[in-house]
Amino acid sequence: MHNQLRARLLLFFFATSVSLPCSPQLPLKDSRLSAERSPSQSLSNSVPEQRAHTQSFPHLEKRGKATQLVVDGQPFMILGGELHNSSSSSLEYMKPLWPRLAAMHLNTVILPVAWETIEPEEGKFDFTSVDGLLRGARDNNLRLVILWFGAWKNTYSSYAPAFVKKNTERFPRVQTSDGRATERLSPFSQSVRDADAKAFTNLMHHLLAVDGTRHTVLMVQVENEVGVIPQSRDHSAIAEAAFSAPVPAKLMHFLDTHRTNLSPEFRAAWEAAGGKTAGTWQQVFGETSLTDDLFMAWQYATYVEHITAAGKAEYPLPMYANAALIRPNYEPGQYNSGGPLPHSIDIWHAGAPSLDFLSPDIYFNEFALWAGLYARPDNPLFIPEAQGGTSGAGNALYAFGHLSALGFSAFGIDDEGNAPLDLVGVTNPAEHPDNNALGYMYKTLSELEPVILEREQAGKVTAALIEGEAQRSARISIDGYTASIARAGSTSPSGARVAALFIQLSPDEFLVVGSGDAQVTFSSGRPGAPNTGIESIDEEFFTNGAWVPGRRLNGDESSQGQALRLYSSDSTQGRIYRVRLYQYH
Ligand code: DGJ
Repeated sequence: MHNQLRARLLLFFFATSVSLPCSPQLPLKDSRLSAERSPSQSLSNSVPEQRAHTQSFPHLEKRGKATQLVVDGQPFMILGGELHNSSSSSLEYMKPLWPRLAAMHLNTVILPVAWETIEPEEGKFDFTSVDGLLRGARDNNLRLVILWFGAWKNTYSSYAPAFVKKNTERFPRVQTSDGRATERLSPFSQSVRDADAKAFTNLMHHLLAVDGTRHTVLMVQVENEVGVIPQSRDHSAIAEAAFSAPVPAKLMHFLDTHRTNLSPEFRAAWEAAGGKTAGTWQQVFGETSLTDDLFMAWQYATYVEHITAAGKAEYPLPMYANAALIRPNYEPGQYNSGGPLPHSIDIWHAGAPSLDFLSPDIYFNEFALWAGLYARPDNPLFIPEAQGGTSGAGNALYAFGHLSALGFSAFGIDDEGNAPLDLVGVTNPAEHPDNNALGYMYKTLSELEPVILEREQAGKVTAALIEGEAQRSARISIDGYTASIARAGSTSPSGARVAALFIQLSPDEFLVVGSGDAQVTFSSGRPGAPNTGIESIDEEFFTNGAWVPGRRLNGDESSQGQALRLYSSDSTQGRIYRVRLYQYH
C-alpha cells in the first residue's frame, strides 16, 4: 500500500472511531502486493544497481513498543505457510499450488532452497529453480521466506551436494563415542563451513541481483533444526580437542556481562556448577549431558554466524535459525543437542550476533509456553513451523495479539494447513478436521493488518489463549480494562483451544476477533466509577473491499449486555466485533 493511501485510511479510521458512536469503518485491506506486480518483468538487474537500494531492503525496526518487519517502508505481518520439504524441488509440482496458497489468504510462502540444487557440481551454480520459485510467488502476489537447507536439515546432511557427501575425508562427519560416522557433517570442520558459506553467499548474491528491488524474498532461515542426535555431542577428534579446551573467552565475557538477563534455566545450571568465568566446558558448566548440549550450541552458533555474516555481506536480509523443541523428559541427543533451544538462547546470541532472532518450531499443544520462551525483548518472535487447522488459527491470533509476532506459519501448508505428521501424543488429530480454518483466520487478519500493526506500536493490542484440559479460563488486561474469557457452548469440549484478540481503538472501544466458542466478560481497575458495562456490541464484516456493519447485539445474543459471545463459526463467516465499554456508579 502506498504510504499516502495508508496514512489516509488510518486517519479516517481514527477520526471515525473517536467521533462516531456507530462508525463501522475500518482501514481497507493492504493492497500493496497487487499494485506492484509485473510478472513479465525480467528477474535480473545489475548488483551495483540493487546495492543502491540498501535502505529499502526488508528489515526489522523498532517502531514504538513493537519490533516489526518493514517491507517497502511499511510494517508487514507474515501470514505464512511452510511447504512440505520436497514440494519446491519441482517447479512443475508447484504450478497448481501457488494459486491455492494465495486463495488461502497467505501473504508469504516459506520454502526450502537446497544446497545440492544450486551447486550440483562444485563451483557450478544453477539458479534456475530459485528464479522459477520467485516467478511463481510474484505471479500470485506472494512473498517468500527462504530456508537455506545447507549443511543441515533436521540434524542430517541430506541436502548437501554429492561432492560433499561422498568426500568424507575433506568434509568430515559427526562421530559417535565409539568412533562411527553419522550422516551429519561436523560443525567443527572448517572445510564444511567454508563450502557451505560459499554456496550461501552465491545464493544471496543472486537474490540481490534478481530481487534487490522487488523484495519478494523477505527473510532467510540459515540451516534447519541443527543439533546432534543420537548422542549429546560430536566425538570426532577435532570436537574432542575443543571439548577439553577452555570455554572461549568471548562466550565467558558475554555470559558474565549479561548475567542478570540470562534464561533462568541456563543461569541456574551455570550457577549450580559454581558460576565460574573460566575453565573447560565441564569445569564451568558441570559434568552433565547439558554441558555437551551447551558446547554443541556454541559450535553450531559460531558456524551459523560465519554463514550468516557472509550471506549478509552480499545481501543483508533479516536472517534467523530455528529450533526443534524438546519433548518431555528428553535428554540431549534424544533431542537436537546444540540447537537454538530456550536454555541456550543466550549462547546462540553470543555466538551468532548476525542472526536477527531465533525461532521455535511449535508442534506441541502448549503453544503459549513455547512461544513465550522465544518472545523476549532481545528476540522478536517468528514461528516458521506450527500446527495448522483450527489450532493454528487460535495460535496465530495469540502470537500476533499477545506476543507481537513478526509472523506465523503452519507447516505442510500444501496440505491446506493440515500437516499429516506422525506426532503421536504431540499434535492432536481431533483438532485438525477443519482444513480451512487457518485460511479464514488469515483472511480476517489480512483485513485488519494495518490496524493491528498501527495499534501494536502503541501497545494497544493483546490476546488470550485457552489451551489444554487444565486451563479453564484466561484473563488479559488492556489499558485498565480486564477481559475474562471462558469456554462456552455445548460444542466446546473441555480442552478445546480458544483464542481472542483485542485491538484497542480509543479509550473505551475495542475490536475483538475470536477463534473457538467462548464468552468474554469485562471489568475495570480504572479510577472512577467502579462498575463496567457494555455500551454496545456491533458485528462488522469485510465485504466487497469495505467494512460494513452487521447486527447490533444487545439482547439474548449478549446475555442482555452482560457478555460478548464468540463463536467458532466467526472466522468462517468473517465476523469481528466492535465492543464499546463504559463505567458507572
Ligand atoms: C521440522 C522440520 O524443520 C521440517 O522440515 C519437517 O521435517 C517437520 N519437522 C516435520 O515433518
